[in-house]
Amino acid sequence: MSIAPVTVTVTGASGQIAYGMLFRIAAGEMLGADVPIKLRLLEIPAAVSAAEGVAMELEDGAFPLLSSIDITDDPDVAFSGANVGMLVGARPRSKGMERADLLSANGAIFTAHGKAINNNAASDVKVLVVGNPANTNALIAMNNAPDVPDTRFSALTRLDHNRAIAQVVKKTGVRASSVRKVSVWGNHSATQYPDLSHATVAGEPALAVIDDRDWVENDFIPTVQVRGTAIIAARGSSSAASAASASIDHVRDWVIGTAEDDWVSMAVCSDGSYGVPEGLISSFPVTCADGEFAIVPDLAIDDFSRERIDLSVSELEQERAAVRELGFV
Ligand code: NAD
Ligand code: LMR
Repeated sequence: MSIAPVTVTVTGASGQIAYGMLFRIAAGEMLGADVPIKLRLLEIPAAVSAAEGVAMELEDGAFPLLSSIDITDDPDVAFSGANVGMLVGARPRSKGMERADLLSANGAIFTAHGKAINNNAASDVKVLVVGNPANTNALIAMNNAPDVPDTRFSALTRLDHNRAIAQVVKKTGVRASSVRKVSVWGNHSATQYPDLSHATVAGEPALAVIDDRDWVENDFIPTVQVRGTAIIAARGSSSAASAASASIDHVRDWVIGTAEDDWVSMAVCSDGSYGVPEGLISSFPVTCADGEFAIVPDLAIDDFSRERIDLSVSELEQERAAVRELGFV
């Protein structure tokens, strides 16, 4: 029996992250080696021609699973029938731009994309927001798509999760696959809280294996928190291939499921778990099965963790207040 194609819409299709993402999606690394893909590429009019170039390269990959590529500057067309929406396109901060200007420019984009998803996407659509500020952009898209369940919206903190694993790998010398149950809480920003309290290294409690509280507090946590800024300083532009890879990990695990003895971090709509106000898009440890995520319940949160989770969540509340003031939610 042939498998029905899945429609994947990628916004910001001419950008750096999309360039690292599209070829792997077409190769079947996100949805499975037997799932045909219809790609929809959304760009602003000035970048449609560059998207056409990316599409030519995708054609030249001769990917057996790639059944079609459509390019458009119209969000209604881009999200028509979309099963997966990867919202990468966003307005970057430019010289002289204040935070409110950035929220305002992106508020308009994610309002339009939320409405287009609401009115055109498939009934099973899953949305990942990558474009920054990712949590608040996802909040805006979700609030502008009232007919789509809130559980279908998410923002990318898997990159932070993977960065946390990478730091533990460097510290302990184990393989990445031996580091499990890392958690990232809160915002995809420098206030995020990468948490090793429940993590394991080769099946043993990570904090006991590491046995270096000073490293955890004064090296591990700040390194993960500012990794994005460190990459911008070193590369001259923001992380792209690692962000693309994390985005593929995020959607793959959401659709296909997480491993039995592990969890991942996703920024999702809070149901009030762990004292995070309902309706905020905040990062949590989650498991996924049958295409649904579930926030890992009943984890013990000590005072150290509580303080850091609360700090990042309060930043999310401030961002929500700012976009409310601008009328986006
Ligand atoms: P980029 O500038 O290379 O590409 C962005 C693309 O988006 C551009 O081609 C632009 O034309 C397009 N775009 C802008 N407005 C659009 C709209 N309304 N509709 C469709 N497309 C639109 O940037 P990039 O390196 O690909 O990064 C994209 C975003 O991802 C940035 O906001 C960046 O800060 C963010 N990012 C997030 C994470 C994360 O972990 N959440 C990590 C890295 C980067
Ligand atoms: C990252 O974490 O690499 C990016 O979100 C950084 C940025 O500001 O684009």
